[in-house]
Amino acid sequence: MTALKLTNVCKSFGKIEVLKNISLDVEEGEFVVFVGPSGCGKSTLLRVIAGLEDATSGTVEIGGEIVNTVPPAKRGIAMVFQSYALYPHLTVEGNMALGLKQEGQPKDVISSRVEKASHMLSLDQYLARRPSELSGGQRQRVAIGRAIVREPKLFLFDEPLSNLDAALRMRTRIEIATLHKALDASMIYVTHDQTEAMTLADKIVVLRDGIVEQVGAPMELYNNPANQFVAGFLGAPSMNFLSAAEVGGNPDQVLGIRPENLRINGEGQLGGRVMHVEKLGGDTNVLLTSPGGDEITVRLFGQHDISPEADVRLGFDPAHAYYFDAAGNRLRA
Ligand SMILES: Nc1ncnc2c1ncn2[C@@H]1O[C@H](COP(=O)(O)OP(=O)(O)OP(=O)(O)O)[C@@H](O)[C@H]1O
Ligand SMILES: [Mg+2]
Repeated sequence: MTALKLTNVCKSFGKIEVLKNISLDVEEGEFVVFVGPSGCGKSTLLRVIAGLEDATSGTVEIGGEIVNTVPPAKRGIAMVFQSYALYPHLTVEGNMALGLKQEGQPKDVISSRVEKASHMLSLDQYLARRPSELSGGQRQRVAIGRAIVREPKLFLFDEPLSNLDAALRMRTRIEIATLHKALDASMIYVTHDQTEAMTLADKIVVLRDGIVEQVGAPMELYNNPANQFVAGFLGAPSMNFLSAAEVGGNPDQVLGIRPENLRINGEGQLGGRVMHVEKLGGDTNVLLTSPGGDEITVRLFGQHDISPEADVRLGFDPAHAYYFDAAGNRLRA
């Protein structure tokens, strides 16, 4: 069954159109990630699904029921925010139990659900602490626990990891993926971090300026982007874009090649001058400028000694080249 169905959803604040005709299906058990640059409407879309904002037009269906006029608490969803939004005067246990108490659940149901969720999230030993006595990662786990105990049909996450440091972000990301498998629930996860999108999603929805640019599995979008925006958004370092004239092509077209698909060798199709070398240990990123003045990044596996200022040739397999028209639409051979 479809967990969520959006049909022609529009949202305006006064004269500003923030969401433009969004239609989308989320299947039961699916992990869907909304990704896009700051201000593209990700949080607004999540808030419309949650019922914290009304859609200006269009329908929101959850579990087969149109919920446009159903209040947030009755939509069978639970939302986790970037800011955690925990009650400072309540303990971990109190924070996790609160929503269930408000629903009027019996005591034994509340305690068994809180126990199960705290075990899943390794929070057992912190149940009596208050949020101020926890680390950022532990607080975020409490916020996730508070969502889990409600046993929602649909989880909504709005950038839940962006307040955490890189190592903790990675660990919590893996925890969320594991949790998704264990709970077998539908999840929608908002982020502007393409790594989170690539690693967590069954399906990625790329948004720009309130419009869905492309929907698909991570590798589908990575290998087969519909346009220059999607091609440039997914992948780090991002895809290189240069004038097709640099390789003797049509100057009105843009050539796109991913950094890992370029090699530095004696007879490549493309010229470049090394400007900077980033040695990451496992990888080396070489930043160059093309004769036409375009910036190029080459990602090499392992460690390499490459001198700045060197003039080199860059080679690539034509099968790895993408072409776009001046408007950024993908051109297919
Ligand atoms: N209550 C509001 N009134 C007017 N404009 C709003 C309101 N809420 C959001 N907007 C505007 O809608 C646009 C989308 O905002 P939204 O918060 O959905 O972006 P986002 O994709 O979540 O960005 P970020 O990655 O920075 O969180 C922005 O231009 C924002 O200024
Ligand atoms: Mg946001």
